[in-house]
Amino acid sequence: MADSWVNSAERIGADLHLELSGQGGRRAALTRALREAVRSGRLAPGTRLPPYRSLAADLGVARNTVADAYAELVAEGWLTARQGSGTRVAARTEPLRPAARTPDKVPPRARGPRHDLRQGTPDASAFPRTAWLASYRRAVQQAPGEVFGPGDPAGRIELREALTEYLARARGVRTEPERIVICSGFAHAVRLLFGQGGGGVLRGPLAVEAYGLDFHRGLLATAGVRTVPLPLDEHGARVDRLGRERAVLLTPAHQFPTGGPLHPERRAAVVDWARARDALVLEDDYDGEFRYDRRPVGALQGLDPERVIHVGSVSKSLSPALRLGWMVLPERYVEGVLAAKGEREGWASVLDQLSLADFLVCGAYDRHVRRMRQRYRRRRDRLVRALAAHAPQVEVTGVAAGLHAVLRLPPGTERSVVKAAAWRGVALDGLAAFRHPDTDMAPRDGLVVGYATPSEHAYGAALDALCGALPPE
Ligand SMILES: Cc1ncc(COP(=O)(O)O)c(C=O)c1O
Repeated sequence: MADSWVNSAERIGADLHLELSGQGGRRAALTRALREAVRSGRLAPGTRLPPYRSLAADLGVARNTVADAYAELVAEGWLTARQGSGTRVAARTEPLRPAARTPDKVPPRARGPRHDLRQGTPDASAFPRTAWLASYRRAVQQAPGEVFGPGDPAGRIELREALTEYLARARGVRTEPERIVICSGFAHAVRLLFGQGGGGVLRGPLAVEAYGLDFHRGLLATAGVRTVPLPLDEHGARVDRLGRERAVLLTPAHQFPTGGPLHPERRAAVVDWARARDALVLEDDYDGEFRYDRRPVGALQGLDPERVIHVGSVSKSLSPALRLGWMVLPERYVEGVLAAKGEREGWASVLDQLSLADFLVCGAYDRHVRRMRQRYRRRRDRLVRALAAHAPQVEVTGVAAGLHAVLRLPPGTERSVVKAAAWRGVALDGLAAFRHPDTDMAPRDGLVVGYATPSEHAYGAALDALCGALPPE
């Protein structure tokens, strides 16, 4: 198609490069080209456009083609046409301004550190693209027509059935599809349970572990929920310190971030407390499938499905980008959570829900978790070996589980080690980032190493850089 300079400066004030390309014939191409010139600011507001005849001649198109293009842009509001003053660029059109950030000015975080050992994400390069696509394709092909309408806030029954079977088999959760509500992950579950600025199903004060995810504490604070920190020891959260709180949030399978499981006696004790106080346990089962030294510890929910709300998501097993999770609820909370969700599913894509259902039922989820378990176990073993060789004074604490490990550091050294690591291009957090501001527990110095985060080929270099930043013996 034509690619011309309209070069009659006296007519439109400036040379205008119009590229008549793309689909739909010359009129459509000219309309597009002019619209783009106005939108980008190359044709400034008020600029007078050439008469039909001259532009048609310049571009080698019919006069009517230009007339039609102008008329369409007038109708859209890009141009104005007035008798006597010709066709002009409309005064109110705002040119598209380039984004403030130019490629040279991308902040360091956006570009990413050289060695990313921040906890929180699975190895992105291992996302099971082919198997997920196969499930998605089957889900879309087999979906009945009603799937493409507004979704049920409880979530698709296919997914709730698949989860009922999977969670019973893999996590020891006792439930039925009617007690599962699909959500977009743990963060969403917190919002649904505690509301945003009040009005949730549960009320505070809420006991939490003295070390935990500050992001979740922030969500609770926004909802107006006071959190009361429980100290931790070698057996996990000190549940004997529970008092008049209405509920307790725990990570029983693998304390986040310090890394120990809750001792069996404390598991029983916290359920007894909930029964005696008519209180609730909120179980965050964020990485329960990933245990390397033994079979995973079953969910606390199995001890008392009427006292424990069990929450899980695919954020560690597949990807946090999917935004898919589940709440397994005592019967008396189902209605309230559904009311909090609203009349229609507004969070979790129904097609993704069906894909996950297929992914679970066809065995792809189990296969992927098994594969990732092996991969993360190898990574943790490499970390332990590297430390034994290069920094024997630094101990890996917690059980062999999950996607991160905590390295214990000599008291008072955490800040300087995190800084030394950053200087070597290693991004990670110290334990202080996870400490509840109100806890009276003695601070622990340590590094939280997300060994799952780098891709396979980048892990060795990340470990070398980390070892180089650790304090000498
Ligand atoms: C302690 C903890 N709980 C839960 C989650 C999962 O959060 P979500 O399901 O909202 O992605 C994470 C992060 O992945 C986490 O670190």
